[in-house]
Amino acid sequence: MSAGRRLGDGPPRELLDAGERLTREELLDLQLRRLQATLRHAYDHSPMYRRKFDDAGVRPEDCRSLADLAHFPFTTKADLREYYPFGAFAVPTSQVRRVHASSGTTGRPTVVGYTEGDISRWSDLVARSIRAAGGRAGQRVHVGYGYGLFTGGLGAHYGAERAGCLVVPASGGMTARQVQLIQDFEPDIIMVTPSYMLTLLDEFDRQGVDPRTSSLRTGIFGAEPWTEAMRQELETRAGLHAVDIYGLSEVMGPGVASECVETKDGPHLWEDHFYPETVDPFSGGAVADGDSGELVITSLTKEAMPVVRYRTRDLTRLLPGTARPAFRRIEKITGRSDDMIILRGVNLFPTQIEEIVLRTPAVAPHFTLHLTRPARLDQLAVHVEARPGATPDDRDRAATAIAAEIKDRIGVSADVLVVDPETLERSVGKIRRVIDSREA
Ligand code: DLL
Repeated sequence: MSAGRRLGDGPPRELLDAGERLTREELLDLQLRRLQATLRHAYDHSPMYRRKFDDAGVRPEDCRSLADLAHFPFTTKADLREYYPFGAFAVPTSQVRRVHASSGTTGRPTVVGYTEGDISRWSDLVARSIRAAGGRAGQRVHVGYGYGLFTGGLGAHYGAERAGCLVVPASGGMTARQVQLIQDFEPDIIMVTPSYMLTLLDEFDRQGVDPRTSSLRTGIFGAEPWTEAMRQELETRAGLHAVDIYGLSEVMGPGVASECVETKDGPHLWEDHFYPETVDPFSGGAVADGDSGELVITSLTKEAMPVVRYRTRDLTRLLPGTARPAFRRIEKITGRSDDMIILRGVNLFPTQIEEIVLRTPAVAPHFTLHLTRPARLDQLAVHVEARPGATPDDRDRAATAIAAEIKDRIGVSADVLVVDPETLERSVGKIRRVIDSREA
């Protein structure tokens, strides 16, 4: 960083795009114009929104200020499922250039569509996210997010190309080969889930290569919750800057919000394209900026599939901008309301266990949570891997320490089992932390 520039200043102005150069006032003005156009477009062209607005008795022209958006109905995943596959689209499919779909663990998947313009704006926003992470044109990017219906791979790919980078479309899996590719192609940047990055780091170790000697200087990690403790683990082990990228397919894909490397203080939400709100996850009532709530997003520039007040189920807080002062930030996501475990009346998130496990000596950052209900009482067992070389005493101490921390900080009793190294299943994409065998 050059003399006279402070941490948090952000990059030199010439590296910012037009949206990033807006003042807050200019941004608010742009948001209102784009919001009004989006509501009009959704009402006129999407069968789903025509019905939803009619049912709620609202018309696009009722939105005269950003605050008026609160009169419009929420959109949920269930709405999108109901209009499967293309009923939420606001353009004829002849204008749709691509679809993606969520995995849909329960019921139908949700399908999302993009016009040529949507793909271009998405690429711009991922390119912006890459620059925010410190990436520059001319660098090389290894993409380890899965390619396919998941938005991670192709979203990162198009964005990295737009940023002027050389892209290695590795996708997920074939871990030994990925490590080889990283050594041979010498990428500067890796884009991958944090849990799969751990898998890659273990593979470096297995091959006897210190990952800190690799060319990687920046990791752009997202698609699942990860903690500050995980950031420290990844930065120390891999010798890179670990920054957080957020997004969801229903709203676009990766690049809805992204962290700036200067501050690493939670993703800046790219508010020139998305209008955020936070609401109480139960009542749906507005929550003030700075307070925790469920993130709700309205798209401002999407053509094929605009979303109005989409309930993300992600829990966070809206915070003022820092490195990009015009845009608000979201606090690093602690979890989805769906991932919340209710154990004997206490709410807990897997990320809380992650913080504890990662701060405990002698155990590796690999763990799973097992929920059972013997004798009608919920039980939580934490399986965590020992680091190679940990002695039986180390393992006992770690188990005791983790159980005590869980009791202390979260307020529940858990059985902690320290298992042998390399016995828990490794992530190749989004990790599944919780194995719930309680009966419905
Ligand atoms: O995961 C899009 C994405 C791809 C984001 C690659 C970042 C990188 P979905 O499969 O629709 O889309 O899953 C979206 O994943 O609602 C969050 O619960 C979670 N999620 C995504 N990014 C983060 C993050 C992609 N940085 C769901 N931190 C979202 C925490 C995240 N959770």
